[in-house]
This record gives sequence, C-alpha cells and structure tokens, in this order.
Amino acid sequence: MLSDVRVLVISGSSREGSFNRQLAAVAAGLAAQAGATVTTVDLRSLELPIYDEDLQSKGLPEGARRLVRLFAEHDALLLATPEYNGFPTPLLINALDWASVMPAADGQPSGSAAFGGTVAGLLSASPGAFGGLRSLLATRQFLQMNLGMLVVPEQFGLVRADQAFDAASALVDAAALAGVARVVDAVLRTARALKAVAR
Ligand SMILES: Cc1cc2nc3c(=O)[nH]c(=O)nc-3n(C[C@H](O)[C@H](O)[C@H](O)COP(=O)(O)O)c2cc1C
Repeated sequence: MLSDVRVLVISGSSREGSFNRQLAAVAAGLAAQAGATVTTVDLRSLELPIYDEDLQSKGLPEGARRLVRLFAEHDALLLATPEYNGFPTPLLINALDWASVMPAADGQPSGSAAFGGTVAGLLSASPGAFGGLRSLLATRQFLQMNLGMLVVPEQFGLVRADQAFDAASALVDAAALAGVARVVDAVLRTARALKAVAR
C-alpha cells in the first residue's frame, strides 16, 4: 500500500458536538486506515478575525500563514462543512479568504499556489433531509473555480445527522459509512495517481 499521500482534514464547524466535525473524523479514520498521513486542523484554533482589507494592510494573521503552510505540506483535502442558508459556513470561507490573499514569503508559497492542484473531497452533515446538498454545490464551485483545487466528483451529504452517530461518534448506518468511504477512496486514488505522474 502506498503511504505517501498527505491529507488535510477540515470541518467547517468547530462547535462542541458538531456533526460535521464527527463526519470529518470518520473520513480521517478511513483515510488513515487506507495508509494516508492525516492532519486534522481546527479552524477555530487559527483565531482569524473576520477578513477586512484594512486589517490585511496592517499585517497578515499568523493563523492564515499556518493554514497556507498546511495546504503546501499536503496533497489532498477532506472537508466536511455545514450548510448555513445554502452556503458553507463563515468560519470556513473566512479562513480560506485569508489564506487566499497570503503572498509567497520565506520559502512558503502564496495561498493561491498552495491551494492549486489540491485534490479535494466534499462531505456535509445536516439534521435536515437534504444533507447540506446546496452547501456541497457552493463549496465545490468555491474550491474549484476560485481556489484551483481539483474536487473529485464523489461527494456525500449526511441526512438526519442528529440521529446518525452513536455515543462513540461512529456512523450508525453502514450505507452512510460507505458514502464517506467512496469520497475518501476517490480522493486517495486521485492524489496517488497525480503524485505518480509527477515523479
Ligand atoms: C445560520 C444557520 C443557517 C442554517 N441553514 C441551514 C440550511 O440552509 N440547511 C441545512 O440543512 N441546515 C441549516 N442549518 C442547520 C445546520 O445544518 C445545523 O445547525 C448543523 O448542526 C450545523 O452543523 P454542525 O453540527 O457541524 O455545527 C443552519 C444553521 C444555522 C446556525
């Protein structure tokens, strides 16, 4: 088994008990089982203020630099984001906006260079009946069209997320686990194929 693929795992919600955090953790576990090196980043821990161009002109926050470094060090992204009014969360968009304006410095690539070519797989969890489908579509467009990531066609929206996990945060439904596994598998296969071509 190849073990050279590095995967960043991000949840668009950092709240205690977040369904998306739990879903991201399931995806992280599957990726690790499949031999990937996995890094989970908590967006709240980056302590990013709301993006403002005046703030940017005063200096870029260390959390944005950290996020760019993480993207530069990883081949792929597994992202689980909630849907807020049809869109991914402000927590996620704000973090990616900050990282996108980061210029290259001290041997670290710019944010846009670090994002470019990252293989991404999308997940969403919602207590509702549609599993965050609209946010999946908006996130796909954002990552692909604006940030230059390669988003795999497979995606998974977890419906009725408030009933989907057991006390150990495992998915109760085998079909739901298979849905996450399809996304993880597509991301790892694509990232590995691209790495093999680049060698
Ligand atoms: C401002 C706001 C808007 C929301 N809009 C939607 C929505 O459009 N579709 C949906 O399925 N759930 C929506 N929800 C409910 C979230 O799916 C729910 O709060 C979910 O638990 C958030 O994810 P988390 O558990 O990972 O924090 C919304 C919640 C908030 C706070």
